[in-house]
Amino acid sequence: MNAPQKPESLSAPHTNAAWHQRRLAATPRGVGVFGDFFIERAKNAELWDIEGRRFIDFAGGIAVLNTGHVHPKVQAAIAAQLQRFTHSCYQVVPYAEYVSLAERINAIVPIDGPAKTAFFSTGAEAIENAMKIARAATRRSGIIAFGGAFHGRSLFAVSLTGKVQPYKAGFGPFPPEVYHVPFPMHADSFELAKQSMEHLFKADIEPARVAAIVFEPVQGEGGFNPILPAAVQWLRGLCDAHGILLIADEVQTGFARTGRMFAMEHYGVKPDLMTLAKSMAGGTTLSAVCGRAAVMDGPAPGGLGGTYAGHPLAVAAAHAVLDVMAEEKLCERAQRLGDQLIAYLAAKRAVHKRIGDVRGLGAMVACEFVDPKTGAPDAEMTKRVQMAALQRGLLLLTCGVNANVIRFLFPLTIEDAVFEEGLSVFSAALAEVAA
Ligand SMILES: Cc1ncc(COP(=O)(O)O)c(C=O)c1O
Repeated sequence: MNAPQKPESLSAPHTNAAWHQRRLAATPRGVGVFGDFFIERAKNAELWDIEGRRFIDFAGGIAVLNTGHVHPKVQAAIAAQLQRFTHSCYQVVPYAEYVSLAERINAIVPIDGPAKTAFFSTGAEAIENAMKIARAATRRSGIIAFGGAFHGRSLFAVSLTGKVQPYKAGFGPFPPEVYHVPFPMHADSFELAKQSMEHLFKADIEPARVAAIVFEPVQGEGGFNPILPAAVQWLRGLCDAHGILLIADEVQTGFARTGRMFAMEHYGVKPDLMTLAKSMAGGTTLSAVCGRAAVMDGPAPGGLGGTYAGHPLAVAAAHAVLDVMAEEKLCERAQRLGDQLIAYLAAKRAVHKRIGDVRGLGAMVACEFVDPKTGAPDAEMTKRVQMAALQRGLLLLTCGVNANVIRFLFPLTIEDAVFEEGLSVFSAALAEVAA
């Protein structure tokens, strides 16, 4: 066998185009990439590519950067931890900060009674473990999820995901005992959800064999669709009646994005388990499952964990994130920025008839693009607005089952001037595409 070659020097040629070509040759197409530029550095809500071009970041690494890129306090916490140790594997030699982070999370999550928390690395891993915990605690197997849901890309998580392209196509068969019903986001879909659930219990699985119902309080990838408050009450009632666990997937909604630390606080209903990730650790890799202590203790010792689960650097970052969120009052700021954005988009909609629904919870805000005559989703227009904004240096993400939604995921720490600059870039992109 040949000895591994030295990596090619970064110096020649260090351009976006050159790295783009090397990416195509060296990495599989399945890892789809939106940008054709490569990041060099970032600060709060701005990033710069390797050719020195500046972008305003309204994507936040897909909802990970509620405290912004490289927040000084998060950076300092990671640097301090780096001086002490980087890995022991919590299950081999535990560290106190894991325990104290669990205590802090347990104290703030909307869970009834005493709570416990276990840490993992990714959102999908949190979802996988929530399913294991629910099955172990109930000794049941069925799981119910919703159309349009996104719960991750690992095999069980993707089986819960309610969107075929591009997430599920070609990856089956999926684990059995996973069922989907329509997501109740308005009166019509609520009616449909109730009928589907009734039919499911008659045709496919009896409620006494269902371990859990898992839902996103606001569907993220599915289009920033807040669940109807009455539907959350309905789900809680259904779960209570049949001994089913209610799991809120707050991977994208959590940590101040919706104007509260957790979106479930808007609904006055407490889930049995919650999954957390993304903005919990300021851009480092950390996720969690938390929930009622008795449920969390369902799996036997050794049933949960992972070599890197609850990594010390990420745990240190998460402590700093919780401090920053309190000190900088990021829930209040999310609400203020979200209100400002909703008002801005509503004003745009009055002028641009291709803007359809404008919706959101706190700063989890999105707008749809539709055909002004038929109201049909317009994915092409959405893409054109996204690309026109990118040309002008504003990074935006789309979402939605019909790919016709633009979502806004700026850091909640964004400076007012940068936020307003981002909106004026969006206005210019819209004007160009609508012209
Ligand atoms: C609601 C929700 N759950 C789970 C996941 C999966 O998280 P990860 O990509 O970290 O595995 C995501 C990712 O976007 C998400 O939005």
